[in-house]
Amino acid sequence: MDLDDQHEFARDGALPAKAKTLWHGRFTGGPSESLLAYTVSLPYDQRMWRDDIVGSKAHVRGLARVGLLSNDERDDVLRALDQVGAEMETGSFDFAETDEDIHTAIERRVTEIAPAGGKLHTARSRNDQVATDLRLWCKRELRDVALRLVEMQEALLEQAIEAGDTYLPGYTHLQRAQPVLLSHHLMAHGWALGRDVSRLLDTIDRLDVSPLGAGALAGSSLPIDPIGNAADLGFAKAFDNSLDAVSDRDFVAEAVFDLALIGIHLSRIGEEWVLWTSGEFGFVRLDDGYATGSSMLPQKKNPDIAELARGKSGRLIGNLTGLLATLKGLPMAYNRDLQEDKEPLFDSVEQVTLAVAALTGMIATATFNVDVMQAAADEETMAATDLAEYLVRNGMPFREAHAVVGAHVQSCLAGEGSLAELVMADPRLGAEGAALVAPGVGVKMRTSRGAAGPAARAEQIDSYRSMVQSELAAIRELASFD
Ligand code: ARG
Repeated sequence: MDLDDQHEFARDGALPAKAKTLWHGRFTGGPSESLLAYTVSLPYDQRMWRDDIVGSKAHVRGLARVGLLSNDERDDVLRALDQVGAEMETGSFDFAETDEDIHTAIERRVTEIAPAGGKLHTARSRNDQVATDLRLWCKRELRDVALRLVEMQEALLEQAIEAGDTYLPGYTHLQRAQPVLLSHHLMAHGWALGRDVSRLLDTIDRLDVSPLGAGALAGSSLPIDPIGNAADLGFAKAFDNSLDAVSDRDFVAEAVFDLALIGIHLSRIGEEWVLWTSGEFGFVRLDDGYATGSSMLPQKKNPDIAELARGKSGRLIGNLTGLLATLKGLPMAYNRDLQEDKEPLFDSVEQVTLAVAALTGMIATATFNVDVMQAAADEETMAATDLAEYLVRNGMPFREAHAVVGAHVQSCLAGEGSLAELVMADPRLGAEGAALVAPGVGVKMRTSRGAAGPAARAEQIDSYRSMVQSELAAIRELASFD
């Protein structure tokens, strides 16, 4: 564009002067196209239509309870809201050019259907409305994420049980450390998911407060009933401070954090499975339905789900940091900045939901290469700690035992014999020590509570099962408030 022409663009195409915005009374000119293009949230907040209708119906009943709507008006508006709901459900709802967001769209349509629709916004602002809708949305969607996580925990448990006594190397620093049961390794991820479920339930518990009745920022001079509305909507309580009610997005930040941490847990699984499916590890084979091929390399079978679980965690972390930056420094009370809460939240919920479903399928259908895993864990030096603990049982201080065994490992690596031979020749270790180096023995030595061996497994499976049971009970209890 020629710089001299810039002034021509000072005001771009505007809608007619009296275009029906929610604020047209105060304005002589209509909104510019660029304002609308920049400020609309309809493309993404449409997904809250159910919550907006539920919230509006409760508001209408509340207005009637305190005499601000007659019973006939109430019934007309409730019917109109139901009709809008049906139009939304069937996709026949006609959006208008000036529908800035889902709240505007629904209110406009209700007033077209019912003459009393003009009373719908009595003592309500979009500020308390949007906060109410978003809390309702979060309650339902976060509960759904929790339920999917439980399904993933169940898939991990099933594979763990299937794995029986199969063992593999446990790693520290990605160096082979000690043999661990495959079931133990799989359940380790399930316990992390258990904390995720519990965090989501905590977040739901804290966000279970109705902001409806806070108005734009300060409540109302009309005799509204926020407590009755809260109960009607199934919220545990109503707000105590109207400024806080309309400006609080802690619950969105918490939800997006919970989802980011879930993403990190999924990413850790993803990274392991990328390694495990590689030719170098060869621990797992993916089912064809959960792997991809290469467009050029005919032999390839790629773990794309695992890679995307790893890759998309970056985006989930980005959603959190972006939202926190948006919230920081906002003065009381509502600011339009707060509209920026929705895209990160919706995106995080959607991405985690997709990831959990794909990973659950990938894990549930995978085949473990038992021989390869166990051979990797049967490397003689993996028994070093068991040899040191054998010496400790016979009274040697651990530091000294560590040095004795370390010296044998060094000699073994220097080619002076196998570790079993060197141990056999050492009178402090002898045949009993050599037996500890034999394949499959090491994993059985992990006997302490919560340890990686078969002795502790049954107890762990029991407590894992009761974790899953109580998660399901808590999730069901939430569902009963719908
Ligand atoms: N779409 C807006 C949002 O999501 C609705 C609230 C607009 N409120 C206002 N006072 N302009 O935040």
